Amino acid sequence: MRKIPMIIDTDPGIDDAMMLTLAFASEVIDVRLVTTCSGNISQDKTNYNARTFLSYIGADVEIARGLDQPIFRELEVAEDVHGESGFANVTFPEPTLPVSDRPAITAMLETIMESEEKVTIVATGPLTNVAALLLAHPETKPKIECISWMGGAAVGGNMSPTAEFNAYVDPHAVEIVFRSGVPIVMSGLDVTHKAYVTLAEANLILDMGTDFSDKVYKMLTFYLHIAEQTPFYEAHFAKVLRFHDLCAVMYVLKPELFIGEDYYVQVEMEGRLTAGTTVVDYTRRSGQTPNVHVLHSVDREGFVSEFMNAVEFIGERIRVK
Ligand code: RIB
Ligand code: CA
Repeated sequence: MRKIPMIIDTDPGIDDAMMLTLAFASEVIDVRLVTTCSGNISQDKTNYNARTFLSYIGADVEIARGLDQPIFRELEVAEDVHGESGFANVTFPEPTLPVSDRPAITAMLETIMESEEKVTIVATGPLTNVAALLLAHPETKPKIECISWMGGAAVGGNMSPTAEFNAYVDPHAVEIVFRSGVPIVMSGLDVTHKAYVTLAEANLILDMGTDFSDKVYKMLTFYLHIAEQTPFYEAHFAKVLRFHDLCAVMYVLKPELFIGEDYYVQVEMEGRLTAGTTVVDYTRRSGQTPNVHVLHSVDREGFVSEFMNAVEFIGERIRVK
């Protein structure tokens, strides 16, 4: 079976952990490298969380440290959303996976250039590492299949009224990546707000009865306090749990679950009120050539089914160990 060579750049984070669960449960994804970025919490914590979580689920993968700070802005974290540790109040055993002796950018460069096939980059945090790779090593561009990024939004924000968190933390990195010419798929809030798990579905996870499903359930329900902050324009949504980052991997695995369009997308880098806002030219009045495939709809039931299967698969694999 042809596997998809993948590099995952992530800032775990609760929904990042759900994304890693999906990626490492899949038989068709070959994760060749995990790199950590600063975002939800600091680099020290995201790298530690990646190592504890991936050690716990039995993954065997290199985990390399990325950059500590955004390109120009001061790092702003989201401990209010993911908890001080980044994993709510859930703890995992001490990691057996080490920190790679290669910095992230070097590890990404060598992984991409050594691969016979093009490599897909899944990014679920600020794009600082990916931007640095493309700036320092443009020779990698033709060997990248696409960058599937959770971030941005055509309408609305969650870090400010107009800016989504990953774009807000490092808008200069977004600008570098969006201008790179590399194919980009953007899972912005437009689609991730529709890719939710209901409380009833979360209870089905609890019913799985494994140590892993218990930990996932605790993470999901910690996230509930965020669900209650549903923006007014989605007031009709009940309390639901949005695992934004799952979309970035799910699209690579099951593109047929999504609907999107190619648009010209820019990012506001300096606006006093709007920094981090991704400006999606969905009115197509700019006349500019589209540079991003923007997802806007998802088959939610199909999405949740894939996620639940992954949680069950990993939970059973750990139980059997
Ligand atoms: O806006 C949602 C994004 O910000 C997700 O990647 C979440 O993990 C946080 O990093
Ligand atoms: Ca994230």
